[in-house]
Amino acid sequence: MVVRMSDFLKKNDLLEKNLSLDLKLNRAYGASNPEYLQKVYSTWALDYDADLARLGYRFPSLASAVLARHCLNRQTPILDAGAGTGLVGTWLHDLGYRNLTALDFSEEMLQETRKRGIYSRVKWGDMEARLPFDDESFEAVIAVGVFTQGHVSPAGLDGIHRVCCTEGTIVIPFTENTWEKLGFKEKVQKMENTGKWKRLEQTPWAPVMPFSADHKNDLGAVFVWQLN
Ligand SMILES: C[S@@+](CC[C@H](N)C(=O)[O-])C[C@H]1O[C@@H](n2cnc3c(N)ncnc32)[C@H](O)[C@@H]1O
Repeated sequence: MVVRMSDFLKKNDLLEKNLSLDLKLNRAYGASNPEYLQKVYSTWALDYDADLARLGYRFPSLASAVLARHCLNRQTPILDAGAGTGLVGTWLHDLGYRNLTALDFSEEMLQETRKRGIYSRVKWGDMEARLPFDDESFEAVIAVGVFTQGHVSPAGLDGIHRVCCTEGTIVIPFTENTWEKLGFKEKVQKMENTGKWKRLEQTPWAPVMPFSADHKNDLGAVFVWQLN
């Protein structure tokens, strides 16, 4: 008997749902310009949290936990760059942090962030351009799911470096398949070699989205730098 894919999918709800989740994910990763990416997130904002939970997305919890072992002061001003709906801020708030600023370039995602009521400030801004903050405004910056394919380029690292203070902490997870390929490794090493920051930590490479059909084998690691 021949089983057509469409019949198979009808019978397999979970797989069908996770395939459609992967489609959304792949649309975001495959964005070739910022306008398209903004459109993807504008239509995803309401379902984003539930979808990412179903994919088993681990970066927000992992990166927040890593930040917590470097920033002991719970009043530390922290920028959540590319905050999206505020998943990272939620973990940080649960860990006791009370001075959180969210920044994103999707108004619809920021709408969801505002609803959480955990950020002191929620700002629109483009991480490929000058961020709407003075130099050295934050003692820590965390950017999760942002320095990746279809999103923010390595040049965006200079922007978050500018708004973080001397001896401040920057926490960023990267995926193994984009770390070298998209130039992140080269850029961060250049910043290390020119004395802009020093690496404090890199967690082991581990699965990022274990329940994604297409990305279950993608590995990610959280990196931490201290600014010189
Ligand atoms: C995968 S989501 C990550 C959201 C959140 N940090 C998380 O981990 O759930 C990527 C976010 O980056 C934002 N983003 C992408 N490019 C951006 C840019 N150039 N400037 C600001 N935000 C950007 C998107 O709007 C989206 O909310």
